Formats: sequence, C-alpha cells, structure tokens
Amino acid sequence: MNGPRILLIVGGGIAAYKAAELVRLIRKEGGSVTCVLTEGGSHFVTPLTLAALSENPVHTTLWDLKNEVEMGHIQLSRQADLVVVCPTTADLLARMAAGVADDLATTLLLATDKPVLAVPAMNVRMWGHPATRRNVATLRADGVTVLEPDEGPMACGEYGPGRLPEPPAIWQAIAGMCGPDARPLAGKHIVVTAGPTHEPIDPVRYIANRSSGKQGFAIAAAAARAGARVTLVAGPVQLTTPPGVDRVDVETARAMAAAVEAALPADAAVMVAAVADWRAADEAPQKLKKDGSGEIPPLRLAENPDILATLCRSPARPPLVVGFAAETETVIAHAQAKLARKGADWIVANDVSGDVMGGALNAVHIVTAAGVESLPEMPKDQVASALVERIADALA
Ligand code: CTP
Repeated sequence: MNGPRILLIVGGGIAAYKAAELVRLIRKEGGSVTCVLTEGGSHFVTPLTLAALSENPVHTTLWDLKNEVEMGHIQLSRQADLVVVCPTTADLLARMAAGVADDLATTLLLATDKPVLAVPAMNVRMWGHPATRRNVATLRADGVTVLEPDEGPMACGEYGPGRLPEPPAIWQAIAGMCGPDARPLAGKHIVVTAGPTHEPIDPVRYIANRSSGKQGFAIAAAAARAGARVTLVAGPVQLTTPPGVDRVDVETARAMAAAVEAALPADAAVMVAAVADWRAADEAPQKLKKDGSGEIPPLRLAENPDILATLCRSPARPPLVVGFAAETETVIAHAQAKLARKGADWIVANDVSGDVMGGALNAVHIVTAAGVESLPEMPKDQVASALVERIADALA
C-alpha cells in the first residue's frame, strides 16, 4: 500500500453516509484510512461500518482509557499524511475556526501539524450565512483547504450550494494534497520579508508606510504549504503567523537586513517588505518637545541599506532572488529598471496607486530578463500560490 495515509474525521450530517463511500474509494486507490467519528456522526453512520470498510479501529471519544494507554489520542494524526474532515458540518466548521477543543475531533484538529482538508456539507442558507462565510475565510487564512460544496437538490428539500461533493472529486483533492506534486518545495529554505519598517525619530515617533504585510504573509504561507522551510522576517504588523512558518519580528530596515543575513543560506529569497528608504539621521534619545519658540525641528534623513541589492551581491546570494516593486506609474518600465539596478532574478511589480496596500486583491506583473508575465487581479493568497508555483518550477 503506497497511497496516502488519511485520518478521516466524520462529522454529524446526513452526508456522513458518503464518508463510508469515500473510505472505500481511498482504499481502492491504494491509500489507508483511520476514522474518527464525532458524536453527531455516530447518529448517521456506525463505528462498525467504518471499521469494517477501513479495516482499522474507529475512534470516537477522548476519554478512552485503553487507547490512551496505547497511543495518546491527540497523536492519532502522527501517522497520517492528511487530515480530512468529511462531512464538515456548519457547527464543526465554526468550532474549528474558533479553535474549540471539546471532543476528540476538534482536539485532534487543534493539535495536528498535518495539512487539513475540510469538505463542507450543509443546508444552503447555513452555507451562505455570514457567520459561515466568516468561518470559511478564517479557516482558509489558517491554512486549511476548504472545498466548495456542490450545488443541487439537498436532502432537506432545498436547492443550492451545500451538497457534499461526490467522493471522486474529494479523492482528487486528497490526491492533489498528498501526491508527489503536492510539496514541490520540500527540502528547500525560503526567506520572505514582509510588512513595513518603522524608523524611529524619537522614542514615540517613527517614519512608516502603508504596507499591511498581507501579500508577504500569504507568500510565506503558500511556500510552507508547498513543503518549504520558511523564515519570515516581518516588520511591525498585526498578522498571525502562518502554520509551519518561522517568524522573526523586526522594526527597522537595519534590523531587517541583519535578520535576512542571519537566515541564510537559502534556496530563494522573496523580498516583499516595503522597506523604508530613509531613516532619521539623528534619532533623538528623548521625545522632541515644542519649546514655544515656534521653531520647527529639522528632520534630517539618512539612507537605509538596500537589503535586496545587498543580498544580490552577497557571496551567500540564494540561487533565486525575487524582489517586489510597488509603483504608482509606468509600473513595468520601473520594474525593469529595478531588476537591472538591484540584480534580482525577478521583480514582481504591482500598481499601488489604488487600494492595493492593505486591500485583499492584487494584480502583479512578473518581470524577468526573459520578459513580462502579467497575472489578472486576484486575491493575495492566489497571487501567492501562483508565485510559489513558479518558484518551485525555477528551483526544480
Ligand atoms: N528593498 C530592500 N531594501 C530597501 C528598499 C527596498 O530590500 N532599503 C526591496 C523591497 O523589499 C522590494 C524591492 O527592494 O523587494 C523594491 O522596493 P521599492 O521600495 O519598490 O524600491 P526602491 O529601491 O526603494 O525604489 P523606489 O522607492 O525609488 O521606487
């Protein structure tokens, strides 16, 4: 048996009977399955059915003394390649999004470091409810793959999106997440910079910019999902660290430069941070005060190190160095000039004249010596996936 090892969590919905079919299909495709049945799930399908189909014991409770002695329950996912939650009910989805751990399934989900595929099935209005939309977005941001449900007549007599996808479609998603192409960056180390930098003027004031860090964090998350070891050097932003990413927090450009150097060697560096070009030349040790004379204190600036250009010329230069260029006019021409000036392999250029900074969407042009590839406007996590795919190809 050389197929994927699946830990299958079966939630309590009418679609649970299809989970039994999924177990058969995974096994037919050469995979193995261990099932966890929630309390709700056990009303729709019996442990005996799943045990017979999987040829493995079925786990139903956190409080099983015998199993706890043989193997800590929360370690159940240790031998799995992927955790599949099928069906994911609206309730299970909400508990996953909130990080609740009040039964075996949710405790496992909170404790696992394996990729998670959620396959929702619920009433059409529950799927469309703002709370469920929010929970799906939260889970996706946390790195969970959430399949879109099918559209059609439902067991409750209504029509719309909410039906569990057919087992072959679920298998396709499983194969995509476990197959040899699923972790194309396995064994690679990727350094990503993200966010703005803060350059102090005095103990309470600083120079900053509007970068939110979202695009850089999305790239770090996508690279980690693709199997890379990721060091994310982050300027001051309020974003959660993507699963499996090593984060180094910095404030200033000089601290970011030092953290990037310390993170080397790497197979690729993706410099997404909006590094402040200048810092205050004379950082005041005490807060600057108005002295009543009406005189405005001069603010002298000093140039910050160019982290990207320095990295490109360093003896420890990673084989692939990708820069970003935030431009407000003649985007591609500026990016081409930057490519040559900084010595990067690619410059990913975006027009930030709209509300890209801080927004959820981005439209980028990948500028290389070979030419320009323009991607349509899409969510920042899709931009991240597209870039990581190209990085994996370049490093293959
Ligand atoms: N960059 C860097 N260190 C700096 C300035 C920029 O590493 N001190 C990197 C950014 O992370 C980005 C690329 O260089 O990958 C381009 O950043 P950008 O601010 O667009 O370029 P600048 O050189 O600052 O050019 P300008 O501000 O004149 O457009």
